[in-house]
Amino acid sequence: MLTCVTGVSGSGKSSAIRKTFYPALARIIMGQVEEIGHFEKITGFEGVESVLMIDQAPIGRSSRSNPITFMKGFDSIREIMSSTLEARRGGFHAGHFSFNFPGGRCDACEGEGHVRVEMVFMEDMFLKCDVCDGKRYKKEILAVNHNGKNIYEILNLTVHEAKKFFASERRLHQVFSTLERVGLGYLRLGQSSNSLSGGESQRLKIARELMKSMNNSCIYILDEPTTGLHFRDIGLLLQTLDELVERGNTVVVIEHNLDVMKVADWLIDFGPDGGDRGGEVIFEGTPEDLVKKSYGFTAEHLSRVLEGGRGGDVIRKKREIEFAKLYASSQKVKKAAEEKEARLQAIAQEQEAKAKELAEAEKAKAEELAKKKSVAKDIASKIVKKVAASKPDKAPAKKLTAKKSPAKKADSKKIATKPKPSPKKPATKKSAPKKSTPQKKTSSVKKAKTKAKSTSSSRKA
Ligand SMILES: Nc1ncnc2c1ncn2[C@@H]1O[C@H](COP(=O)(O)OP(=O)(O)OP(=O)(O)O)[C@@H](O)[C@H]1O
Ligand SMILES: [Mg+2]
Ligand SMILES: [Zn+2]
Repeated sequence: MLTCVTGVSGSGKSSAIRKTFYPALARIIMGQVEEIGHFEKITGFEGVESVLMIDQAPIGRSSRSNPITFMKGFDSIREIMSSTLEARRGGFHAGHFSFNFPGGRCDACEGEGHVRVEMVFMEDMFLKCDVCDGKRYKKEILAVNHNGKNIYEILNLTVHEAKKFFASERRLHQVFSTLERVGLGYLRLGQSSNSLSGGESQRLKIARELMKSMNNSCIYILDEPTTGLHFRDIGLLLQTLDELVERGNTVVVIEHNLDVMKVADWLIDFGPDGGDRGGEVIFEGTPEDLVKKSYGFTAEHLSRVLEGGRGGDVIRKKREIEFAKLYASSQKVKKAAEEKEARLQAIAQEQEAKAKELAEAEKAKAEELAKKKSVAKDIASKIVKKVAASKPDKAPAKKLTAKKSPAKKADSKKIATKPKPSPKKPATKKSAPKKSTPQKKTSSVKKAKTKAKSTSSSRKA
């Protein structure tokens, strides 16, 4: 499985993987003692045999290490050289063809091919050894040939050339084709490893892993392996990682490169941003799902390569959908607001109608009352007129008014006060009780009444 850890710079990828995941596994599986970042628990590592960090750091610190020694192919070459007729005649064995041990190597430069010259005010200088002329071996060793080439010339072969040269050597052939597969076919077998570039060192490390015949239960961790690599070399790197995965290993790559992300089986995206705004796993899943379901920076950029260069369209489409959703929801809100408004308006109208109805009812009631009043007034006035017009036979008329308008008491009281003085005079007369009856007459009858009173009094008089 190829797992790619993604996220913007400072989102916590290296802290999580290189400083925590790797040293923790290295301690659990291989007992390595390294400082480990804080973590709660690690599970699922059962069956994993080793965990290896493959970085771009130089391999080996000495200039004695080179691609062929690193790939453990030099032993085979020395065996071959020592088995030649010349070597056997001279009594040279495999050790004589090593530049690490005294014997066959140049004593003057100790097999380095150059000598260090210490400078007082400058960095040390390296000068070609004039004893061996930079060829690292003694003359008698350089006289030994295999198919026309001595050990110096063999170390000067490129991987491509060496593959042809040692075509019949099964083990060496495998080393050279592996180096070719990781894109290092152009390297010379003896190029000192401290002169290799970061990318070359890294691919060399991968190549060595690929040489292990039984490796299928390892976890390989690479922190930004494509840094400094050309597009072509990124393709090569991916091929080699793929080969490790094909064998059943797990490869965890921290990577910003979209070409690596898109071929990953699983992505773990850190974010959402760098520094304090980072440190969270914001997405975990396939690259396709990341593009579909996540809205982080990685999703946006990955969509450009995943849809065959239509990234812009995809993002636009996504935004359109988002906008449509937003628009729909805003329409919903708008509609709900309109409905509420309409409901409130309906209630207000209903209330208004009710109030109007009530007011009308009140008005009608008042009118009815007024009508009743006027009718009563009419009747009263008619009666008064009748009484006034007719002979002073008031008794029946008085009785009638009294009965018809009992509500007019207040008014009649006022009136009643006026007739009072008149009954005083005839107080002794028996008509007095009769005279008190106008009390119950309405105010409108006042004049008529006083008229009637005066007539009656005049009549009495
Ligand atoms: N020892 C530390 N002390 C304080 N802060 C740290 C320490 N190590 C890392 N950080 C901070 O934690 C954050 C995550 O760092 P980390 O190296 O994991 O980021 P990254 O995702 O690998 O970024 P890049 O892609 O740039 O390599 C950064 O903001 C970094 O400055
Ligand atoms: Mg990092
Ligand atoms: Zn020398």
